[in-house]
Amino acid sequence: MSEAPVGVFDSGVGGLSVLREIRARLPQESLLYVADSGHVPYGEKSPEFIRERSQAIAAFLLSQGAKALVLACNTATAAAVADLRERYPKVPIVGMEPAVKPAAAATRSGVVGVLATTGTLKSAKFAALLDRFAHDVRVITQPCPGLVEQVEAGELDSARTRELLRGWVEPLLAEGCDTLILGCTHYPFIKPLLAELVPASVRLVDTGAAVACQLQALLDRHGLRAVGTAQATRYWSSADPQAMARVLPKLLSELADVQPLCV
Ligand code: DGL
Repeated sequence: MSEAPVGVFDSGVGGLSVLREIRARLPQESLLYVADSGHVPYGEKSPEFIRERSQAIAAFLLSQGAKALVLACNTATAAAVADLRERYPKVPIVGMEPAVKPAAAATRSGVVGVLATTGTLKSAKFAALLDRFAHDVRVITQPCPGLVEQVEAGELDSARTRELLRGWVEPLLAEGCDTLILGCTHYPFIKPLLAELVPASVRLVDTGAAVACQLQALLDRHGLRAVGTAQATRYWSSADPQAMARVLPKLLSELADVQPLCV
């Protein structure tokens, strides 16, 4: 049992889609959230750069008393989770990856589309995931450069976001895709828009809820579940904290202070 907070981070505000699932499942846990928006998008950066940023942010969150870490970012998980687990063998660390296994089980047409960052799609971890779970299905990958920036700006349903999405999704539908994996934590925020662009029969799959479930299991295993009342979430951004404070109400229906992150 521990009332210490759980540290959550992402390249930007995308990981808030995971944070809301953690809150829903584990309402007693206090949370710390770091948006590395000064370095977004991770999807176009080298794995070495992402590992360095992840090390700096993990060290910061632990210095703030985090009892566990959640990499609420598919791209950072692919580049850095193994390194962080090696550095902090005693800290429970949850990573995430595109939901290939559930999507492969759900598809009826046998064609699955993966929307994710270039970094995730190029990673060895993603190749291994396909090897393991995508034998009997055809998987079409679609990088979405520019979409993360739209979400960072709070443009969840603007004409530009709609146009970008349509350009990526229509070819996937034309190939018979009936299941779409949202393989980046920024994308669940444009799920309502995406749902307008695809037939109702197309499933949209993301992993936020599964991450919350995994966090619960890890906290239980380590005897670290909180039992009291959660403290208000503390937020940091490595870009303009005011910009994040402005977008928070749109993404989480929440008004909160955001501190500058200086690592
Ligand atoms: N939200 C991140 C992910 O889940 C990365 C977005 C980016 O910075 O490119 O992959």
